[in-house]
Amino acid sequence: MAEVLVTGGCGYIGSHTLVELIAAGYEPISLDDNSRSSPGILEGVERITGVRVRNHKVDLRNAALTDACFAEHRDAVAVIHFAAFKTVPESVAKPLLYYENNIISLLNVLASADRYGVPNFIFSSSCSVYGNARELPVTEDTPFGEPECPYARTKQMGEHIIADFARVSPASCISLRYFNPVGAHESSEIGEVPYSEPDNLVPRVTRTAIGILPELVVHGRDYGTRDGTCIRDYIHVSDIARAHVVAIEHMRKAARDTRPERRPEVFNLGSGTGTTVLEVIKAFERVAGNGLKYRVGPRRAGDVEAVYSDNRRAETILGWRPERGIDDMMRTAWQWELVMAERRQKP
Ligand SMILES: NC(=O)c1ccc[n+]([C@@H]2O[C@H](COP(=O)([O-])OP(=O)(O)OC[C@H]3O[C@@H](n4cnc5c(N)ncnc54)[C@H](O)[C@@H]3O)[C@@H](O)[C@H]2O)c1
Repeated sequence: MAEVLVTGGCGYIGSHTLVELIAAGYEPISLDDNSRSSPGILEGVERITGVRVRNHKVDLRNAALTDACFAEHRDAVAVIHFAAFKTVPESVAKPLLYYENNIISLLNVLASADRYGVPNFIFSSSCSVYGNARELPVTEDTPFGEPECPYARTKQMGEHIIADFARVSPASCISLRYFNPVGAHESSEIGEVPYSEPDNLVPRVTRTAIGILPELVVHGRDYGTRDGTCIRDYIHVSDIARAHVVAIEHMRKAARDTRPERRPEVFNLGSGTGTTVLEVIKAFERVAGNGLKYRVGPRRAGDVEAVYSDNRRAETILGWRPERGIDDMMRTAWQWELVMAERRQKP
């Protein structure tokens, strides 16, 4: 079975991707130090797939340990590099930690992938590379904007590093720019386990409904959008996960690019439509069957009014299209929140 190295395989998107890789016949190997996750998530992956995924507990900032993992799996057909810190306010408070973790890990993973000749490389990028884009929807050709925080800058820097690497490496490289991944696996066996109090909308909705947060604050209702609240592009985490399998298959099928100036391929992974904060709340109320306690507060500094993707490149070139809508996202997010609450109550 073809091995795929998955850094950050115990994390939110990583664990869902393990499930999709196994379903497609790959043998994923996780490299995760569990600094922001629990190895217990692999039990959930096993309950879904029947496969116990091996995790190398390694801090990818350590070049020698990273290299040793790659040496053990030198026949791997691809590496998917999820491992990174991702919390925006933390990145503002601790920029050096973010540059150190996100950039040094990437450099070590690329160096080891290069040394052992792993032929395909996927990087987890983010729509935050676009900054406050003026024209919507954003396409892959929309230029990088001024990053809103050090986290976003690490994603821009990561893409630049990969572009330089791709020019001289025989490996195929893809950067996938995720919009707003939400929801959980349909089985409720895996989902997002927040490392710190989340500042993004969907976990705040479900944490309010379960009683962890006293109320949801809608930050601003005076934006120039259809109902005055901010617009984002939400995408189900299992759709994002499946895109990685499709991307690996695309790279393995494609004829080796022999241009002297090779470039990484870049794809937006979004739903292609924008949803307002109030529409998210309404979708939640629809699927949960009860009302949500919220109030409108002032705008939050740094919030962009609206951002959503043009996802046609992923559809045309990869044949990938999201299969789940906002109700599926809210329903699975809510089911997962209920499962987590049940687990907290167990002795
Ligand atoms: N979730 C989102 O909203 C979102 C949006 C856009 C991009 N991304 C990117 O997607 C990737 C995955 O995100 P996620 O939501 O699954 O995050 P996550 O925090 O759930 O998972 C990241 C995993 O990487 C591991 N990790 C971090 N630093 C490490 C290191 N130095 N060595 C080894 N393991 C390390 C953590 O323990 C964790 O399990 C990240 O690169 C993130 O920046 C996420």
